[in-house]
Amino acid sequence: MTKRVLTLPGGRPSRLVVLISGEGSNLQALYKATANPAYGAEIVGVVSDRETAGGLQWAQSQGVPTATVCLGDFPDREAWDSALTAAVQSWEPDLIVSAGFLKILGPKFLAQWPSRVVNTHNSLLPSFVGIHGPRDALRAGVKLAGATLFIVDPGMDTGPILAQVAVPVHDDDNLESLTERIKVAERAQLVDSVGRMVQHGWWIDEVRAGFESD
Ligand code: GRF
Repeated sequence: MTKRVLTLPGGRPSRLVVLISGEGSNLQALYKATANPAYGAEIVGVVSDRETAGGLQWAQSQGVPTATVCLGDFPDREAWDSALTAAVQSWEPDLIVSAGFLKILGPKFLAQWPSRVVNTHNSLLPSFVGIHGPRDALRAGVKLAGATLFIVDPGMDTGPILAQVAVPVHDDDNLESLTERIKVAERAQLVDSVGRMVQHGWWIDEVRAGFESD
């Protein structure tokens, strides 16, 4: 296995770009964490693939620059990939956090920031890939659900796993209650993990990933 270590430049806050499609509760948790200079990061831009993402307005209300790059506005996925890459590149990010972004990132985007794009997903991968993690966990009758932070590769929710957190599935859970329990744990994991990446770095090999601080 070839292990590679990645670290971010010190001496200044690391520049984060966050990709969203929805309400942006993960984005808000990250933003709150960055208020502490010791966290070591700032959010320099937020991108959505849809105008309706509630997190966009929230980011604007905080004075964070935003962009919307809708797949439907482009002739094909390749053109969308290029436009998304250019929009994010304009903010010169050190690390990109996909937090509820409901599109598969393209090859150009991933080549621009190798091993520097992370995604938070609301299941214990490799179970329940795709956009219905909590629903699929309920349907499968599992006793533990959770969230996974991983380094994005070209597949759907297949990249090397950085961190996972489990929550119980209660017998009387419905989609709403389980989704909310997962989101609470997911937000805490995301804030903790991005902080570790920024402050200490991370490593990746062909299969696995982890924090340099562990
Ligand atoms: C997260 O639970 C993420 O895992 C899933 O969508 C949710 C996004 O929530 N794909 P938010 O927009 O950060 O509130």
